[in-house]
Amino acid sequence: MSPRDDVVARLRAAGCVFAEEEADLLLEAAATRAGGLEAMLARRVAGEPLEHVLGWVDFAGARWSVGPGVFVPRRRTELMVGTALRELSEPRDPGGSPTSDNSRAMVVVDLCCGCGAVGGAVLRGLHDAASPAGRPAHVRLHGSDVDPTATQHARRNLEPWDARVHTGDLFDPLPADLRGGVDVLLCNAPYVPSAAIATMPPEAREHEPAAALDGGTDGLDVLRRVVVAAPGWLSPGGRLLFEVSPAQASAAVALAGSAGLRAAVVQDDPEDDDPTGGTVVVATRR
Ligand SMILES: C[S@@+](CC[C@H](N)C(=O)[O-])C[C@H]1O[C@@H](n2cnc3c(N)ncnc32)[C@H](O)[C@@H]1O
Repeated sequence: MSPRDDVVARLRAAGCVFAEEEADLLLEAAATRAGGLEAMLARRVAGEPLEHVLGWVDFAGARWSVGPGVFVPRRRTELMVGTALRELSEPRDPGGSPTSDNSRAMVVVDLCCGCGAVGGAVLRGLHDAASPAGRPAHVRLHGSDVDPTATQHARRNLEPWDARVHTGDLFDPLPADLRGGVDVLLCNAPYVPSAAIATMPPEAREHEPAAALDGGTDGLDVLRRVVVAAPGWLSPGGRLLFEVSPAQASAAVALAGSAGLRAAVVQDDPEDDDPTGGTVVVATRR
């Protein structure tokens, strides 16, 4: 048996569905990692998320630093990135044009940023979309999260960009002069109802912090606080984008409406009632 076949067999015996792909990634990582293959394989076989073992996650076409104790960004959240890029290409002020207010930098906040991949992917997307002749749209990003381990990764991930990362509860650590000036407020907060945590895969339930997952009885406790405070931070016409499950979408729209925001739901596939499908609420300050 080749060394690769041996790794595949051990991963498959541990229940890894994509054993071949995982084996290739672990072998690639082991080539440059002290401790090597055996240590990584032991962690993976014991049930640690592959991304924690590798030290990175593939999200929106790039690799982002993650590690033990930090939420692993999910593929469904790429919908928020694409939605934000579309929103940032639209007029900033009601009645304005996309080019009417280019003198000031656009401000993006990634609240509950975890490792910072969501905000980072938006900046990367804006940079990649810039025409070779034109300079990339100038965007300042602020990330914030209550968990210092997460913000440590976010600082590493956002280093190439004009970004600052803050540690603390929701809006508390943000500079006060951002009030009323945030063009896009991204927020993938915890939204799993407490009772549903027990039904999550062990990789999430045992290796991601409860505070990254648990959104209280109906899953909307953290988002309720975000939505109530958001109008005070958004610029006129600014957008709050937040992720929910498809089942939470109508309650989330009502929540945004009661805070005076105009809300719409964006879904990967509105015909598909996959309970894990990407669902983003876009709530605009009037
Ligand atoms: C579902 S994870 C999402 C992380 C990141 N946005 C992403 O999509 O990869 C939720 C994040 O919210 C953070 N969080 C939970 N409660 C918070 C609070 N009160 N203030 C700031 N961050 C909070 C957690 O630490 C966690 O990193």
